[in-house]
Amino acid sequence: MTAPTDVPIAPDARLHVATHGSAAEPGATGRAGAKAILLGEHAVVYGRPAIAIPVNALGVEAHAQPAEGRGHLASTLFHGPIARAPERLHVTLTAVRAALAAAGRPGAALDISIDSSIPAERGLGSSAAVSAAVIEAVLGACGFAADDETMHELIQTAERAAHGAPSGLDARTVRARAAVWFDQGRIEPVSVGRDLVFVIADTGVRGRTREAVAAVAQRRESDPRAVEAALDELGALATDLRSDVSTGDREAIGSAMSRAHVLLTGLGVGDPALDHLVQAATAGGALGAKLTGGGRGGCVLGLARDAASAAELGDRLTRAGAAAVWTTTVEGAA
Ligand code: PMV
Repeated sequence: MTAPTDVPIAPDARLHVATHGSAAEPGATGRAGAKAILLGEHAVVYGRPAIAIPVNALGVEAHAQPAEGRGHLASTLFHGPIARAPERLHVTLTAVRAALAAAGRPGAALDISIDSSIPAERGLGSSAAVSAAVIEAVLGACGFAADDETMHELIQTAERAAHGAPSGLDARTVRARAAVWFDQGRIEPVSVGRDLVFVIADTGVRGRTREAVAAVAQRRESDPRAVEAALDELGALATDLRSDVSTGDREAIGSAMSRAHVLLTGLGVGDPALDHLVQAATAGGALGAKLTGGGRGGCVLGLARDAASAAELGDRLTRAGAAAVWTTTVEGAA
């Protein structure tokens, strides 16, 4: 499998990156990327499989180095002493504390900077990617080498602070730079038969993963048969999709995506802004489109016929009101 490549169409102009630290300074750098769920969000929480793809146009870089005095944080959301970081950074602070504890340096003072181009709360794995990059940087600055499972557990610790009982899909995929199959907490590479060009369109509405996960749980209590049937169908779609991706059957992939959107909406995690962009994508020539991530806002993922039609599709989605649009290509064998 070759590495995917990405082309930003309309980078989100509202995003600013904080720059602090450089390669010449002592310390360590951690990196992670955005992800989009091709199929299986929510169903993975109930043990069904999922497929995720990297979005290489968007990523996070974190740098950590020993502080001279108290530790400082430099990020888009906050600049100042770590001890005074606001509550909305509690996931990042959980990541820092978990990494320091794992490295056996719970009281160490570090200067940490975070540069991220991943929009937060859009279902693109921002929280897991920031945590992954920060944990890697903090462990590196402490001279601690973590194995893959330790890294995963540390990211999961931060993800639990973000949304309760995460499946582990985000924690695994923000560090994987290729399409992955996720099942029972583990990932495997997915073989890709032909190039797949996806367009991602941001509704501009904050996704609400925690609320969406809770809504599905509640619906499953009140209507277990219907919800289990939808989860089973999502699981079956993911399983079929894996072979469609390996043979490069774009029509079948698109139709599975569109069906997944209907099922997810039926589970109560849709939003009118998502439906609007899914319809615009379909009208604009997408072979299929769906919400991606937790839902109730966030982004839509559409499959384009090829790179040229992805550019047209991106323009169409921008005209339909998307706050930002990116393309991501998962390269296949042919
Ligand atoms: O919205 P995101 O990017 O955090 O994705 C959430 C994916 C869910 O399946 C809804 C939850 C999970 O833990 O897997």
